[in-house]
This record gives sequence, structure tokens and C-alpha cells, in this order.
Amino acid sequence: MAERREGFTTRAVHAGETIDPETGAVATPIYQTSTFRQGNRGNYLYTRFSNPTIKVAEDKIASLEEGDAALITSSGMAAISASVMTFLNSGGRLVSITDLYGTTLKLFSQFLPGHGINVSLVDTTDFDQMREAVDKNTGVIFIETPTNPVLKLVDIEAVVELGRRHGATIIVDNTFATPYNQRPLELGADLVVHSATKYLNGFCDVVAGAVVGKRELVEKVRETASTLGSTLDPFAGYLLNRGLKTLGLRVERHNLTAMEVARFLEEHPKVLRVSYPGLPSHPQHQLARRQMRGFGGMLAFEVSGGLRGAGAVMDNLRTCIPAASLGGVESLISMPVTSSHKNVPREHLERAGITEGTLRLSLGIEDAADIIADLEQALSYAP
Ligand SMILES: Cc1ncc(COP(=O)(O)O)c(C=O)c1O
Repeated sequence: MAERREGFTTRAVHAGETIDPETGAVATPIYQTSTFRQGNRGNYLYTRFSNPTIKVAEDKIASLEEGDAALITSSGMAAISASVMTFLNSGGRLVSITDLYGTTLKLFSQFLPGHGINVSLVDTTDFDQMREAVDKNTGVIFIETPTNPVLKLVDIEAVVELGRRHGATIIVDNTFATPYNQRPLELGADLVVHSATKYLNGFCDVVAGAVVGKRELVEKVRETASTLGSTLDPFAGYLLNRGLKTLGLRVERHNLTAMEVARFLEEHPKVLRVSYPGLPSHPQHQLARRQMRGFGGMLAFEVSGGLRGAGAVMDNLRTCIPAASLGGVESLISMPVTSSHKNVPREHLERAGITEGTLRLSLGIEDAADIIADLEQALSYAP
């Protein structure tokens, strides 16, 4: 009889965990050590290479993303930079999209070209442009879906089919969706990367990253990351593992609240536009239904009155906290033009559809009615 596959939340709690026979401790201990006595059964050598506390979180993330292995890094940017640099040499070619998290965009448009890598950024929702850009010299195709901050989608299966034909390594940033809502490896992607700072940890108290996929590829990235020194501290690894245990519960709630809030905002007279993949008005709603199991806890909306209107809403919120990050139990709101996309050139912002009145909202796990009441009163200050 085939072995029964445990559910997502069961694996979030148990995957990677072993109970220490000596003490019976149910929670994974924090192995706050830089080095290990030689000859140990786990083959641990030095924490820059691997650490037992961090390994539990790695095994858990691998299970949740349906990968063979995972690597935890010191930040999402460490995960992204180590991944792309593993599969690109000077003279190599990276194809990606224009709607990327601000620092990823900086890495691709400034840092990598400075190291001899040819980078081509194509319109996020125009697949013909990607088809033209990818050629036999393309080492990596990197996509983010849904994108930060205005939640555009990229068709993962179409990118996989294109990348396969040209022998490129396909990397998907799955930070916004989480493995609860979307599993790119099941759709054929080679590697998934995360800012684990966000939903995977979920409590706004850790900065971390993750790379997941086939063991052979992940181990290559581990080699790069340990050479560059992008290692997470064991204590942060413990917090990440603790956060992961509630991932399914949290995301289920984020999904419900975001849908309710998106519907409320869509009807509000001072809201010009709402972008949420779960709304039938989202231009790629059908694609969202095809490649996502849930639509996530992130949405973007445009307030009347531009920068002044968006600023007035931000200043008057009481429950939602104005802050740059996302994916935590607290609802966080940000103005992309002054935070995540502060240094992004204006023409780029225009192309991406990020206006001065755009606000990005990360729905926490508070009661939806309280978030709606908070938005309602804050929106009364917009012109
Ligand atoms: C989609 C996405 N990818 C990557 C990152 C970078 O992650 P970190 O801040 O953990 O380095 C972020 C951060 O906001 C993000 O939103």
C-alpha cells in the first residue's frame, strides 16, 4: 500500500523534527554553537556550512514546497543572490521581469551587469517579450509571482516550458504566495526562493531567506552561500522553525481576510483601483485560479488624491501599522514610492503601474471587521 502523504499543516508541525531521545524535548533545541566536535553522527562541522537547528527548518520548508532539499540563508536577498550567481558566470545571461522587489531589481539592473552578466528585463505580463528574450545563452530565468507591490502574475508553466527548451534554470520567488497557496516546483520550476522574513516566519521578528528544489541544485547554491557567508544564526533559525509550524493556519486566515478587505475596498468611493488576484476584476484572475490554491494576504489599492491622499490614509490608521515589511500577524501598510520602491526610477514605476496614490496592504490575522473599520475611518481623510 502506498504510504499516506500527510497534510500541509501536519507537515508544518512535524516535518524535519526529531525528538532527542536523551531529553525528550518536544521543541527543537537551539544549537547555539559555531563548531562541532569531529566525528559526530550528523557530520556537522561548522555552522557556516550547516547547523542542526537550521536543518530542521530546512527540512520543513523542503517538505512544504515539495522540494527534495532546502537551504536557509541570512536574508531573502542572500537566497536570491546566491541562487542566481550559482547558475551565471561572467558573460552569462539572466532574463527576468520588470516588476520585481526593489532590491532584487537593483541586484539585476546594477550589480550583476557590473560583474559581466547580461540582464534582460521584460514586461511582466507580456509573455511574447519573454519568449523573444530567452535564448540558448540564457543561464537563468527569474520570476516573482504575484509581484511586489501591485500583484501582477506570471504564468509559471509557460515560463517552465520556455526555459526547458533553452536549458535555462528557472527560479521563482514565491514570497507573496507562500507554499500554502502556490507550489512552483510542482509546476516544473527548478528552484523556489523566499524572503523567509515574511510569511514563512510570520511574526516580524526574523530576517531570513530560503532556497528550495532538487537536492543537487540546492547543494550547489549552498556552496555559493557558504562561500559568500550568507549564514543564518541558530537562534533566528529556531524562531523561523517555530513560525513555520503555524504557516497553514496563518495563511488560511490571511487569504480570508484579504478577500473580504479587497471586496470592501473595491466598493469604496475613495478607492480608484484594487489589485488582488482573488477578485474577478484582476486582469489575470483566471491565471490566478489556475496556478494558485489561495489568493494570499497581500493587496494593493490606489487612493484618490495621489501622494496626499495615500499619506492621509497612512497617517490616520490605528490598527494597520505603517511599515515596510509584510507577511506577519500584524497588518502592515506601506507606500511603495516611499519605501520598497523608493529608489526605483520614475519611468520604471510608471511602467509597473505603481502610482503615488498606491498603497500596499499586508493583511495580518486580526479580525477582518476591525481592519475594515480602521480603513473606513482612515479613508475619510483622503480628498
Ligand atoms: C518578494 C520579495 N522577495 C525578496 C525580498 C527580500 O527579502 P529580505 O528582505 O528578507 O532580504 C523581499 C523583501 O521585501 C520581497 O518582498
